[in-house]
Amino acid sequence: MSDETDYSAAFYQRHAHRYAEVTDAFLQSHYTDSTHPALRSDHDKTGRLEELIAPGSKGLDAGCGPGARDVYDYWSRGYDIVGVDALEESIEVTRMLHPEIADRVSVADLREPLPFKDDSFDFVLSNSVIQHIDTESTFDVTVPEMARVLRRGGVLQFMFKVGSGVETVFDKDYGDDRSFRLYDPDEIIERLAGLNVEVIPVDGEKLGGVILFTDPKPMRHCLIYLRRTS
Ligand SMILES: C[S@@+](CC[C@H](N)C(=O)[O-])C[C@H]1O[C@@H](n2cnc3c(N)ncnc32)[C@H](O)[C@@H]1O
Repeated sequence: MSDETDYSAAFYQRHAHRYAEVTDAFLQSHYTDSTHPALRSDHDKTGRLEELIAPGSKGLDAGCGPGARDVYDYWSRGYDIVGVDALEESIEVTRMLHPEIADRVSVADLREPLPFKDDSFDFVLSNSVIQHIDTESTFDVTVPEMARVLRRGGVLQFMFKVGSGVETVFDKDYGDDRSFRLYDPDEIIERLAGLNVEVIPVDGEKLGGVILFTDPKPMRHCLIYLRRTS
């Protein structure tokens, strides 16, 4: 494991319960300076994904986090969703807070091949996860694996922090420093295009294309919706 990954694991181990509280309360889920006027919060993000997928479809949250807010939310809305996270603490906190989805969350490291067959999912979401994965693993394993488990025609919602190198900020909601690896949207899009996963363009006022925005930390992010074409 790299120092970078150990550092992020230590943060989530220390703050697993607090992370679940912060996400449940949407404390860091309201956005500013969005390049798309329809993106103001995580509710908008979920709303757009729901427009792109069929009711009850099968999904994966890759890096679901402590409490797995999104797995619980999509499951509550009738989707057949599962979540994975590298940290045992993320899964323990989720099972404690949401025993109804205990068998839907499990430990898996996105730097390794995923324990799912090809074409398993109608949708995959991965929000704020590759910020903790080294670039080599992201491009050689994590991104190709997300494409592999997505069925043809399936939708990927991908959100990551934008820039180059690693940035450390003090996060007042945790009273602690956090470090994040930053990514270039063009490079991510190019890699995914090579795997036949293409950006869904802007559709009238609906979210699409490459959307940049700032969270309350403040950190700059990119959100893209993509479709596996073949
Ligand atoms: C910022 S949280 C995001 C959680 C959730 N996606 C959300 O939007 O709230 C990042 C999560 O990624 C997980 N993570 C970091 N490295 C990982 C890896 N290599 N494989 C799987 N999960 C990882 C961490 O344990 C943490 O739960």
